Amino acid sequence: MIQFDLKNLGTDNLNGDIDKYLKAVKSREQGFYEIIDDKKTISDVKSFAKKVRGKYSDIVVLGIGGSALGIICLQQSLKHLFENELKKSKIPKLHVLDNIDPNLITELEDVIDYKKTLFIVISKSGCTPETVAQYFYFRAKANTHKLDPKKHFVFITDPKEGFLRQPANEEKIPSFAIPENVGGRFSVLTAVGLLPAALIGINIDKLLTGARVMRDQFLNKNFKKNLPFQLASIQYAQYKKGKTMNVLMPYAQKLSRFADWYRQLLAESIGKKFDNNGKVVNVGITPINALGVTDQHSQLQLYNEGPNDKLFILMEVEKLAPELKIPNQKLSFNKLLKIEQAATTQALTKNNRPNLTMKIYTINEENLGALFMLFESATAFLGEFFNINAFDQPGVELSKELTKKTLSRL
Ligand code: PA5
Repeated sequence: MIQFDLKNLGTDNLNGDIDKYLKAVKSREQGFYEIIDDKKTISDVKSFAKKVRGKYSDIVVLGIGGSALGIICLQQSLKHLFENELKKSKIPKLHVLDNIDPNLITELEDVIDYKKTLFIVISKSGCTPETVAQYFYFRAKANTHKLDPKKHFVFITDPKEGFLRQPANEEKIPSFAIPENVGGRFSVLTAVGLLPAALIGINIDKLLTGARVMRDQFLNKNFKKNLPFQLASIQYAQYKKGKTMNVLMPYAQKLSRFADWYRQLLAESIGKKFDNNGKVVNVGITPINALGVTDQHSQLQLYNEGPNDKLFILMEVEKLAPELKIPNQKLSFNKLLKIEQAATTQALTKNNRPNLTMKIYTINEENLGALFMLFESATAFLGEFFNINAFDQPGVELSKELTKKTLSRL
């Protein structure tokens, strides 16, 4: 399903220790690889989607970071690239508001009809100031339009804590829980990603099937059969050789937001001040997004001739779309893209820049589910290699605390 070539990238002789690292990851009691079996959530999500089918023209997700990037990626990868502009589409238009720039908020209002809009408020903690502020705003607007909040809002949040629990309980606003042991950036395969996905017609069963196949690899103690461990081993070995940045470069328009999703996962999970023993280590791999072929014309010069401090992870999709011929040429766009991708790989290799190409046959639910699980579980292993906690985010929390402190003085 997903393959890559280990080439001479090194794995830092970690392959003998797979059992040890697997135990270390498991001892963190994180739920990212178990939630994909949560039958109740899956069936609740499907019933909700069935119940509201045809009722809304627009769905607006209010959320940020891990509460937004997964669904943005799902929409872009699995739906028409211009779904919201398709006149004949029966699927509600999905808008994800992952910023508080007032332009974004007011200009969204120009394209939605409040009476036909469902707001999905997503916040693991239920206290993120940006999301709570957005909720207050749209809730007030809904009140002005005399809308029943039960019909126009859904919450996806902590089962007990946070700002959204009270209105959920008191006003009976439908809500879904994010399991306590699943952090925001690991939550795409919980209701966080699954509910909006189901509402726009993505097959969540297939998504989870793909994730389970990769989960089997993650739990496999044989190095050759454990792609997440292989990937993490390469990233770590290259980090130790000074490749402190990872460029993720899909050669597929539909996967460009996958690189955004991964940027958060890698940055927040591995960028840490302290190791497990409390020693200051200031480690991290800087994630960089690139898109083939577009960024060959923006970043490739740097990649080939600039500092040799990056590992390149290219993503290739064997069957992108039906062959699209370029008129009067013995060439198709598909072929041209492949030729350019091969040229990039050759140039990088020639310049001694470590690179690997991850191949998938096509972009579908199964493969996307597998990709999410591959990168999540590789990140979990990486955390253990670095001897840090990949599942906390004290740096993000600090900035949230400082924002709240300032707000409390107003
Ligand atoms: O991964 C994380 O934990 C963070 O990036 C969160 O996703 C982000 O800060 C939003 O938090 P919350 O879902 O609690 O509103």
